[in-house]
Amino acid sequence: MSHNKVKELIDLRVKAKLGGGVKRIESQHKKGKLTARERIELLLDEGSFEEFDMFVSHRSHDFGLENESYLGDGVVTGYGTIDGRLVYVFSQDFTVFGGSLSETFANKICKVMDQAMKMGAPVIGLNDSGGARIQEGVQSLAGYAEIFQRNIMASGVIPQISAIFGPCAGGAVYSPALTDFILMSKENSYMFVTGPKVVKTVTNEVVTDAELGGAMVHASKSGVTHFVADTEQEGIMLIRKLLSYMPQNNLEDPPLAPCIDPIDRLEDTLNQIIPENPNKPYDVKDVIHAIVDNSEFMEVHRHYAPNLVVGFARFNGTAVGIVANQPKYLAGVLDINASRKGARFVRFCDCFNIPIVTLVDVPGFLPGTAQEYGGIIIHGAKFLFSYGEATVPKVTVTLRKSYGGAHDVMSCKQLRGDINYAWPTAEIAVMGASGATSVLYGKQIKELEANPEEQAKFIAEKEQEYNQKFANPYVAAKYGFIDDVIEPRNTRFRVIRALQSLATKKDTNPPKKHSNIPL
Ligand code: HXC
Repeated sequence: MSHNKVKELIDLRVKAKLGGGVKRIESQHKKGKLTARERIELLLDEGSFEEFDMFVSHRSHDFGLENESYLGDGVVTGYGTIDGRLVYVFSQDFTVFGGSLSETFANKICKVMDQAMKMGAPVIGLNDSGGARIQEGVQSLAGYAEIFQRNIMASGVIPQISAIFGPCAGGAVYSPALTDFILMSKENSYMFVTGPKVVKTVTNEVVTDAELGGAMVHASKSGVTHFVADTEQEGIMLIRKLLSYMPQNNLEDPPLAPCIDPIDRLEDTLNQIIPENPNKPYDVKDVIHAIVDNSEFMEVHRHYAPNLVVGFARFNGTAVGIVANQPKYLAGVLDINASRKGARFVRFCDCFNIPIVTLVDVPGFLPGTAQEYGGIIIHGAKFLFSYGEATVPKVTVTLRKSYGGAHDVMSCKQLRGDINYAWPTAEIAVMGASGATSVLYGKQIKELEANPEEQAKFIAEKEQEYNQKFANPYVAAKYGFIDDVIEPRNTRFRVIRALQSLATKKDTNPPKKHSNIPL
């Protein structure tokens, strides 16, 4: 028989673990959702969770709250490990006042964020909340701002990951938006600044939660979420994997994984992967899978701007960020969305000492009023800026086209590219043959308008001449802009060697408060 005081503690713990009670837990399960505690159990290594503030409760006296209080106040917080590495976590409990944020709820989140900063460990937030606790009003707004400020201070110091497993609306969306990665579950999760009811009142537009801010909308249209998971379980496993590519903080390197994939594995298929016809596409993901350890590639932003592929992989156990133009979509052209996507990813890698491997096959920037009015100049500059600012090891392999401004953007030598290789199929030039011919010989082409056959022959001749002169890697190699022209099947080995040589790289930017990246 336990001492009474011990029994009291055990009873209190049992009560706290029930959150808003059995009925609300059942209702959560009926919606196909896990509870805050079940999510933590899945996320962390078994038995590693240590909880803080289980006995915290709100201090509100309005709207009947003086008579309704729950231990823990709607958010489960603490620390544990993922693959043996320390992480801090908060998990919003929808069974307590709809997971809404009170002053004490915010304090609990701030406490784990402060601890995470002191210890230099990642923070993972599992969001499922009705937003500001309406009964508390302005204290709740202050609580959000306290979290935002910590998100900002932690940015670039410790990795911050947000999962959205329920509602996330109003100003509450801004804490996840300030973190490094957002993941949404396909069912039940949505994010928006103003919900469908307000939208209807203000703009008369009728829209559902999912149409306005569901996972696929944010994955493919807005780019707000980086990952979509079919289920919460899958999402949680994804977070565990994502962390394996990251260091604990900005002063460490990502962990080295054991590698059994031979480093000198030759991939003969790569010698043939580039089609004879330069306008024919291929899938750059085939190249990625062929060269990285065990063909394992964790794609980020899969559904957003698929003309640029970004994600994590390993070379001989070293975690890298891969950025690759995708000829399969829009010929791999750079547009506003691809530029935003690429810039964000490059900057993440640079914050956390993750080398960047860039695979180039880019015909240029997407032309047109839609792009110009949308500010492609600024967004393209952002991507360029992020490469030029990055001091992590940068290895570039030009597979095929590398034209014009886009050539400069994609980690060229002069943007402090450390090792720049090209395949023999590379075409590094100001523009493609047809564009160049139409500009250089516009007058003559017009004069031949009356004779289409002659005109076509003339154009073909001039294009061939241009191709012979410029559609190759050797002009760039002649100037040292390309360090070597490599056999495609040998790419894995050459990239691994390059990364090994860059392991001790030290590069800095001049002291400044912060740069003024074009936003
Ligand atoms: C207090 C809340 C709450 C809130 C939900 N609840 N949201 N309590 N403050 N914000 C309570 C409900 O009263 C209910 O209590 C329980 O949580 C579950 O809510 P239901 O409505 O039954 O659940 P569901 O049908 O799933 O709907 C979920 C919901 C809806 C879509 C989130 O509850 C909702 O619209 N809530 C209000 C959202 C909102 O307007 N929040 C403020 C936004 S402004 P019982 O006792 O019945 O279980 C904001 C500003 C942030 O957040 C600014 C930051 C800078």
